[in-house]
Amino acid sequence: MADNVIDLRSDTVTRPTAGMREAMATAEVGDDVYGEDPTVAALEAEVAALFGHEAALFAPSGSMANQIALQLVVPPGDELLCDADAHVVTYEIGAAAAYGGISSRTWPAVGAEIDPEVVAGMVRPDGYFAVPTRAIAVEQTHNRRGGGVIPLATLRELRRVADDNGLALHCDGARIWHAHVADGVPLAEYGALFDTLSVCLSKGLGAPVGSLVVGSAEKIARARFVRKRMGGGMRQVGVLAAAGRYALAHHVDRLAEDHAKAARLAEAVAPFGVLATAVRTNIVPLDLTKHPLDAKALAAAARAEGVLISVLGPRTARLVTHLDVDDAAVDRAATVLTRVLRG
Ligand SMILES: Cc1ncc(COP(=O)(O)O)c(C=O)c1O
Repeated sequence: MADNVIDLRSDTVTRPTAGMREAMATAEVGDDVYGEDPTVAALEAEVAALFGHEAALFAPSGSMANQIALQLVVPPGDELLCDADAHVVTYEIGAAAAYGGISSRTWPAVGAEIDPEVVAGMVRPDGYFAVPTRAIAVEQTHNRRGGGVIPLATLRELRRVADDNGLALHCDGARIWHAHVADGVPLAEYGALFDTLSVCLSKGLGAPVGSLVVGSAEKIARARFVRKRMGGGMRQVGVLAAAGRYALAHHVDRLAEDHAKAARLAEAVAPFGVLATAVRTNIVPLDLTKHPLDAKALAAAARAEGVLISVLGPRTARLVTHLDVDDAAVDRAATVLTRVLRG
């Protein structure tokens, strides 16, 4: 990617900083399949403690971390409930069904605005005549729905629904760090509400690779087995765990800057009838239903001027701020986007 291109497609496009590369280069390593990588062990212990759980497991990707967790809480043939726009049923290529034999049923896409009573109404009890529900999954923050933050009160209600029905509650916390920074909720307070979480180091935190599954010691022992079965056992992977540890130490609090940049971009496009509704974190969803340009045309015109954005649907686009987009880049992107939108 040319250095003068501003890449707002995703926060996964960041490159490791000099400090992170230094941490990677000097990491102590060992064979992690033998359980001998001290940097991985330190990362796993650190993340488990952050979320107030007993254990955590390093995984190569957010998708694998989610899918390992789902296999822990939903037996083959049984049911998972989630949002229709959830990453686990949109972008994980049918993995829950293909690898876990999991049957997924979705509530209408509402992003972070979940009504726990709607979810409660979907639960199917154990019995021989219907697919039994075993788990509920939520996404914090919500990717396809504009980085929305599920309020703590809603999560507590969902915990109650899960407890009332003997279900597990899973959090796809790829961007839970952003929710923590936006709402000031301690990570351990989120952790206490979930049976399993997957959390990513390679999105807003800027590490090149890596996610963790978080849960009880018993669940994580089982997760280690499932990870190996899925081909996710890794060897001298402390070099990557070191990047993750560096990210946790240096890149969490600064997410507030990415949120402020996203708010500035949202403000810039608002006068053109582009609804960039209630931007809370680092994702700006563009609703182009009332604009003459569709999402593809907007993305092509912006690309021609060196600004990359994502097309999510015919009239939906997305801008994401991150570590590699500084204030000057945000200003230039806002100028380009407003010029294109003005027509
Ligand atoms: C909400 C959410 N969950 C999970 C993932 C999966 O992460 P990975 O791309 O590392 O598989 C992503 C990726 O962007 C995501 O946005």
